[in-house]
Amino acid sequence: MPPAPPDGGVLVCHCAQVPESAVVAACRAGCRTLRDVQDATDACTGCRTCRPEVEALIRTFTASALAPSVGQMDHGPTPGEDRR
Ligand code: FES
Repeated sequence: MPPAPPDGGVLVCHCAQVPESAVVAACRAGCRTLRDVQDATDACTGCRTCRPEVEALIRTFTASALAPSVGQMDHGPTPGEDRR
């Protein structure tokens, strides 16, 4: 069994020993592209076989970060509602 990363999370990049939590933290700090995450974490800067997983984490984070919450959705005026 491979050694666990220092923070106990799942390693997403074995070359640079970067856990998923570091990629998520980079996304929370503003990273939105693979290049951003590479610069911030060194993930995906070696063999690059982790690229699909890193990109999936970025997509997952950006989709959830950019999606409006239910309370913020505006579906237009309800019948009978005056929005003037
Ligand atoms: S496993 Fe991420 S660069 Fe090799």
